[in-house]
Amino acid sequence: MVAEDKTELNQWLYGRQLVDILQELSVKLSLDELVAVLKRIQPRLYSIASSSKQFAKEVHLTVSAVRYTRFRDSKKYRKGVCSTFIADRSDHEPMPIFIQPNKHFHVPEKGDLPLIMVGPGTGVAPFRGFLQERQARGDQGKNWLFFGEQHAATDFYYQEELLQFQKDGVLNELSLAFSRDQTQKIYVQDRMRERGQEIWQWLEEGAHFCVCGDATRMAKDVDQALRDIVQQYGKFDEAETANYMRKLNMDKRYLRDVY
Ligand SMILES: Cc1cc2nc3c(=O)[nH]c(=O)nc-3n(C[C@H](O)[C@H](O)[C@H](O)COP(=O)(O)OP(=O)(O)OC[C@H]3O[C@@H](n4cnc5c(N)ncnc54)[C@H](O)[C@@H]3O)c2cc1C
Ligand SMILES: NC(=O)c1ccc[n+]([C@@H]2O[C@H](COP(=O)([O-])OP(=O)(O)OC[C@H]3O[C@@H](n4cnc5c(N)ncnc54)[C@H](OP(=O)(O)O)[C@@H]3O)[C@@H](O)[C@H]2O)c1
Repeated sequence: MVAEDKTELNQWLYGRQLVDILQELSVKLSLDELVAVLKRIQPRLYSIASSSKQFAKEVHLTVSAVRYTRFRDSKKYRKGVCSTFIADRSDHEPMPIFIQPNKHFHVPEKGDLPLIMVGPGTGVAPFRGFLQERQARGDQGKNWLFFGEQHAATDFYYQEELLQFQKDGVLNELSLAFSRDQTQKIYVQDRMRERGQEIWQWLEEGAHFCVCGDATRMAKDVDQALRDIVQQYGKFDEAETANYMRKLNMDKRYLRDVY
């Protein structure tokens, strides 16, 4: 494998930890030699899932603990470094943290504008903060959340809070896509397509469209669904659709925080 082929390298590396590579390639190193080539541990980023207007002295996170077994071999049980540290040990051990502001990803400054949020999985995190923020500011703009996970029974993050936001009239629309509760997979973009006409109407009313979560698959598919909705309900050709999407971007109404 050549070093330039980043995609292939990343695919090969996905799921392999250092110990797997040392074993597979039968690398023989002394402890000192090994330590000398290791990089400092890298920071991990997590979206802030709360609003400082409602929790002035707290920062809430939504962390999915990375735990998996390589090749279904129970001896090859692997844990993500940071997510399982937070899940299993952060109650007892201090954890250095820093804040990296994301100036481009936020609620609309004008409180009366509608907001569409697409956040499957841990992508829901910032949108819990957005809803808290808009509630605290008393914004009158409508809010619509698309959330998806594997199973409603176990993975409906913030279920009670989201339902309360609905009761309080803060969350006007909640569209759910539990991918593995039926034989056919259902994803957030399928729910978007079912409600394409209304999404188009919200966009025409000036809605901001925000996406957070998986970059490799979800964000691309959601982008395609949005383009298709704009084209179909705007009655546009390809060039007009591209223009509309460009304008959404330029007006900072199509915001993405994907990873
Ligand atoms: C801007 C940004 C925002 C983020 N926000 C959040 C957030 O709000 N919540 C959140 O939970 N995460 C978020 N992340 C991801 C987070 O930063 C970490 O990457 C994640 O928690 C994993 O870190 P870790 O140290 O636990 O795992 P690591 O020790 O870094 O291990 C991850 C590696 O484990 C392997 N792996 C993971 N899952 C599997 C699997 N199922 N099968 C096989 N191999 C696997 C892959 O090799 C992967 O690269 C965000 C990332 C970015 C860049
Ligand atoms: N590279 C990988 O293979 C891989 C795999 C898992 C997670 N991750 C990473 O893990 C991090 C966090 O993941 P997460 O726990 O928040 O959840 P996630 O893995 O993003 O899954 C959340 C939900 O999204 C669904 N989903 C899968 N593919 C989708 C698509 N193309 N479009 C829309 N929805 C889709 C999942 O369904 P199904 O699971 O039923 O398909 C699940 O219901 C992200 O950084 C993600 O990139 C990467």
